[in-house]
Amino acid sequence: MSRPITGTTLVAGVVGNPIAHSLSPILHNAWLDAAGIDGAYVALEVKEDGLQRLVEGLKGTSFRGLNVTLPFKTDALAAAGHIHPRARRAQAANLLTFAEGRVAADNTDGLGLLAAFNEQAPGFDPAAGPVTILGAGGAARGAVAAFLDAGCPQVRVVNRTLARAEALTAELGGDPYGLADAGAAFAGAIAVVNATSAGLADDSALSFPLAATPEGCVVMDMVYKPLVTPFLVQARALGRPTVDGLAMLIGQARPSFEAFFGQPPPRDLDVRALALKALGA
Ligand code: ATR
Repeated sequence: MSRPITGTTLVAGVVGNPIAHSLSPILHNAWLDAAGIDGAYVALEVKEDGLQRLVEGLKGTSFRGLNVTLPFKTDALAAAGHIHPRARRAQAANLLTFAEGRVAADNTDGLGLLAAFNEQAPGFDPAAGPVTILGAGGAARGAVAAFLDAGCPQVRVVNRTLARAEALTAELGGDPYGLADAGAAFAGAIAVVNATSAGLADDSALSFPLAATPEGCVVMDMVYKPLVTPFLVQARALGRPTVDGLAMLIGQARPSFEAFFGQPPPRDLDVRALALKALGA
């Protein structure tokens, strides 16, 4: 990076805990460089209860805004005066913007998810059939809302704790399934999305009957470390097309960049290659 930081540099950032390994600064600063924008994007680590104070302190300043990652996506809603309907539906925000002393919360994770399908499964139409989401936590909520909003005729939510899947679908729509019925939830699905945290710590923990999916069913994992998760390995072994979590990460970053810096990031820069390098992949 050769851009000088000056008194007019626009600053935005990402907040989380931990945050040191976030790929967001790499993506945003590369786009700033390529677009020739006088801007900078920094990573901020705050303590568990620190988001509210950070936002209070920044909102009257020239700071443009924040991406918000774990564990603050729910706290981010509480810190905002205006909440976009899609963030309210997801009950989580990954984007806070500051203007004229006001804080607005949005959620671009759903846009990122659909952008990832668009990019890695060209021709995929979310309105063309049932989609199955694995998990019923915050990540799954956002995915269910995104597919329903995109016109998906049926969203099936499979969760280890059936009651959570029932609560989620009662609120947002869709049909709940327990793990024992995962095969039925996979039958006829045009896509399966892993939005559980299973496999993050123990790869063997996630054994879903992916063979029950029809040929051509697109299998996606939100996890991007490793890039090809054991879940995606299983899908590829069955010949299913796959979508990875890095495409979603980049997909949520694009509308965030535009919200901070007033223009979409340049398309011609291969930020995926930069991210892969940072991941050591
Ligand atoms: P997040 O907000 O990131 O989605 P979360 O709210 O903790 O995180 O949700 C984690 C999800 O992963 C849940 O759906 C959880 O299932 P339960 O609701 O039954 O806890 C799911 N999950 C975590 N470990 C799992 C495992 N080993 N097998 C299956 N599902 C698992």
